[in-house]
Amino acid sequence: MELIFNTADELDPRGHYDTLKGKIMASLFFESSTRTRLSFESAMHRLGGNVIGWADPSVSRYGDPTRGETFEDTIRMVDDYSDVMVIRSPQTGLNYYPYIAADIAIVPVINAGYRLPAEDMEHPTQGLLDIYTIRREKGRIDGLKIAVRGDIRYDRTIHAWLYGLARYHVEILLACPDGGEPPGKYLDYVKKNRATYRKVSLEDAVREADVCFVSGAGSYRGRKLDQLGEHERVDAMKYIEEQGIDLHKLKGAKKDLIIMNDLPRSSIHGFTIYPEVDSSPYAAYFREAANGVRVRMAIFSLIVP
Ligand code: CP
Repeated sequence: MELIFNTADELDPRGHYDTLKGKIMASLFFESSTRTRLSFESAMHRLGGNVIGWADPSVSRYGDPTRGETFEDTIRMVDDYSDVMVIRSPQTGLNYYPYIAADIAIVPVINAGYRLPAEDMEHPTQGLLDIYTIRREKGRIDGLKIAVRGDIRYDRTIHAWLYGLARYHVEILLACPDGGEPPGKYLDYVKKNRATYRKVSLEDAVREADVCFVSGAGSYRGRKLDQLGEHERVDAMKYIEEQGIDLHKLKGAKKDLIIMNDLPRSSIHGFTIYPEVDSSPYAAYFREAANGVRVRMAIFSLIVP
């Protein structure tokens, strides 16, 4: 991680390099994305390389439900046409898509986020850029209190983020509802490494933390929102309202607290961070998203042969 972060520090995300001139990135997104796809593609262009692929998987044989092809054969083809693959996996079908692709391909495969199986879902490059953002904003990682607010049982960014943060001497404050904690394997990894964690209330997360990560509203008490019955849904909506950050909820926060979010911070369920926070000194989430280009440039520089 430190190698990636130090490399990222040396790169200008608005610069033009010829480090990867003539190299081809295959951009295979089978699920919607704004930041991950565009920042990966921007990173490859900034390093002098080219991009092939699709933004809409239905134009590929595999993604076209009226025709079809296997995922494995799709990867075999793309392996011959590119020097690195970036894959955001479909939400249905096989488990562990990125690992299946990596077993088949000769070229490096970068996992741009997957959801199957749900308790193991991870988004490693987002976790990396989030930790890089903490280092860049705070000048250090060790010694910080880092909170996360929200139901994070099925949060692929937080799963990856916990693997990364575990390697630092930080205190992780988990402000999540009962049942909404991360799966045990992530917490076990934290315990076995350098970080510590404890559960806190939503209020204490804001009051005590140096960094407060606000998770998206995807699940409640360990169940996806679309699986909830009518009564549970009312509770879930109430929780989402309480979890959302506005300026009032930031009263009592440390002056140099930074609020982070992997974005988007709004969805069909409303806002997790209200726009009134954007112009406050706490808001680091758009700088966090911008760091995606720099960190992905660093990853390409280090792994594309
Ligand atoms: N943070 C993130 O993964 O955003 P996208 O879904 O827009 O790529």
